[in-house]
Amino acid sequence: MTHQEDLHPDTMSVHAGVGEFEHRPVVPPIHQTSTFGFDNVDQGAALFAGKEQGYIYSRMGNPTVGALEGAIAELEGGHGALACGSGMAAIHTAFAAFLDAGDHVVCSEAVYGPTCTLLETQFARYGVQATFVDTSDVGAVQRAMRPETKVLFVESPGNPTLVVSDLAAMAAIAQEWEARLIVDNTFMSPVLQQPLALGAHVVVHSLTKFLNGHADVVGGAIVAKTQEDHVHLRKVLNHLGGVLPPLESFLVHRGIKTLALRMERHAASAIEVARHLEGHEAVAWVRYPGLPSHPQHEVHMKQSRSGGGMVAFELCGGVEAGKAMMNAVKLCGLAVSLGGVETLIQHPASMTHASMGPEARARAGISDGLVRLSVGIEHLDDILTDLDQALGAAQRASEGAGLTA
Ligand SMILES: Cc1ncc(COP(=O)(O)O)c(C=O)c1O
Repeated sequence: MTHQEDLHPDTMSVHAGVGEFEHRPVVPPIHQTSTFGFDNVDQGAALFAGKEQGYIYSRMGNPTVGALEGAIAELEGGHGALACGSGMAAIHTAFAAFLDAGDHVVCSEAVYGPTCTLLETQFARYGVQATFVDTSDVGAVQRAMRPETKVLFVESPGNPTLVVSDLAAMAAIAQEWEARLIVDNTFMSPVLQQPLALGAHVVVHSLTKFLNGHADVVGGAIVAKTQEDHVHLRKVLNHLGGVLPPLESFLVHRGIKTLALRMERHAASAIEVARHLEGHEAVAWVRYPGLPSHPQHEVHMKQSRSGGGMVAFELCGGVEAGKAMMNAVKLCGLAVSLGGVETLIQHPASMTHASMGPEARARAGISDGLVRLSVGIEHLDDILTDLDQALGAAQRASEGAGLTA
């Protein structure tokens, strides 16, 4: 199916990237092959020279992977997409494509921990400097920009604090400084938020999360707004080599068919979970972008269709109460990752954001007691029952330790 902007996200999720294959299968087949034959030497040479369109070798392109890339590009409203071996492979490729030695990056303080670590370790070795700022503060972003800033990297809502940045304002700053705005849209997915329409140049995703949705694939994607960026990113990905294999591409494409349906359920349950936690005596504070209590609620609702499926909170008893709660859950899984059909709970300071170190975490507002919840599509009552019994365990642990809940 060709790009049709007038279709609703629910319809696009089902039909995007299906394409045309021999025998007209309803679902793109899995082309489980590393390489493709040539008719003769001249045809092989024409393919390599770009004089003829076709497949050569699966690192350079594969029909099953191409179908997924078409789907993601359609959903995000980009010129083209690239499927990568993980979200980090996508972020690495995007940075490598747009940064040279001596360049500077302005990056959200609240980002997935390894994104921060990638800039501070690997890219620092290549002579790229990074400044981390609270990108919910437009003035702070403006002040951090320099003539050598080539990339403004924003995650909104940010992992794990769910701090929200004004994407249109970020795009205006990037434009003024002739930098590229790259947005990590993992937490929202394209059915809830479309950064390219708000002025971003590039979107990155961990496909591992909501897009695949079934916790059985690690993958990533880069979406470029322009043909020029898409061609450049394709070349860089081909050199770096972090591509997504055909079977994984097939699975993510299958997951995308129910993306809109799943996001609706994730968000409908997450807002109820957030409200429930807000009203619970054991809970000190809750962050959910869909609730008016979130500091950037209005900005978020201006640029997104709902608050999404992620909730962050801290218990009155701090770290020990949080540990007791996470050890007591029965239905919710104690595991990192997010965006799957199952509810998962985790502790960012010791898990997903441990690599950042205490200083960077403090800067990003990631307290030691913060708990991150990815609300799944189980029945809401069952999720709440499990959280309540686990909060009870946390309260008993706090009382035992002489802390008040
Ligand atoms: C917002 C965000 N971006 C990127 C990543 C990295 O994705 P992956 O684990 O697929 O490399 C993650 C992983 O949790 C994430 O939460």
